Amino acid sequence: MLAFTRLSLAAAVLAPALSSHAVKILVQVGPENSVTFSPSNISANVGDTVTFQFLAKNHSVTQTTFAEPCSSPLFGGINSGFQPVSPDSTATPQFSFTVNNASTPLFFFSAQTAVVNECNTGMVFSINQDPNSAESFAAFQANAKADIRPAAKVNKEGRRVHARDFAKLVGK
Ligand SMILES: *[C@@H]1O[C@H](CO)[C@@H](O)[C@H](O)[C@H]1NC(C)=O
Ligand SMILES: *[C@@H]1O[C@H](CO)[C@@H](O)[C@H](O)[C@H]1NC(C)=O
Ligand SMILES: *[C@@H]1O[C@H](CO)[C@@H](O)[C@H](O)[C@H]1NC(C)=O
Repeated sequence: MLAFTRLSLAAAVLAPALSSHAVKILVQVGPENSVTFSPSNISANVGDTVTFQFLAKNHSVTQTTFAEPCSSPLFGGINSGFQPVSPDSTATPQFSFTVNNASTPLFFFSAQTAVVNECNTGMVFSINQDPNSAESFAAFQANAKADIRPAAKVNKEGRRVHARDFAKLVGK
């Protein structure tokens, strides 16, 4: 009986924290043909769902590293792949994921380089950035504009690998 009471109390305290506050956050990708995520940064809690609506062009939302946003996407990270939208299309491709770690910021870029290197123009996005930290969204975006190295990736051991693997990593 005592054990049962403790469990019930634990459930009563934990359940609302885990479920009832979860929200769905919408992010527009390329609104009005812009090369932007809108908004460019959000705050999210564990359990929140982030949904990207691809409105135009051919962008991706690809998880990456703070220091080298455009050339070193995160090995095994979240990745929508390219989401082309033809100009006369009425369809809006969507990509969603659930936030499962809100204790550190998450960083993303559009991996499109065909017409322009979109990341170099500042097309980046972050979750849970702290504007007063060294890893603020502003610092991340500045890194993106400065990261003109050829596309490459970092493997599990932290080594950079050949640029040809970049397309495989971001273009699934
Ligand atoms: C973060 O996004 C908000 C909109 O949600 C925007 O007002 C703010 O300027 C962004 N921060 C930076 C550093 O761009
Ligand atoms: C969240 O991510 C950070 C950095 O990767 C890690 O140190 C931490 O253990 C993670 N927290 C959880 C709850 O997974
Ligand atoms: C979208 O962009 C990728 C990468 O540049 C390219 O391989 C793909 O062909 C593009 N898709 C369309 C329909 O233009």
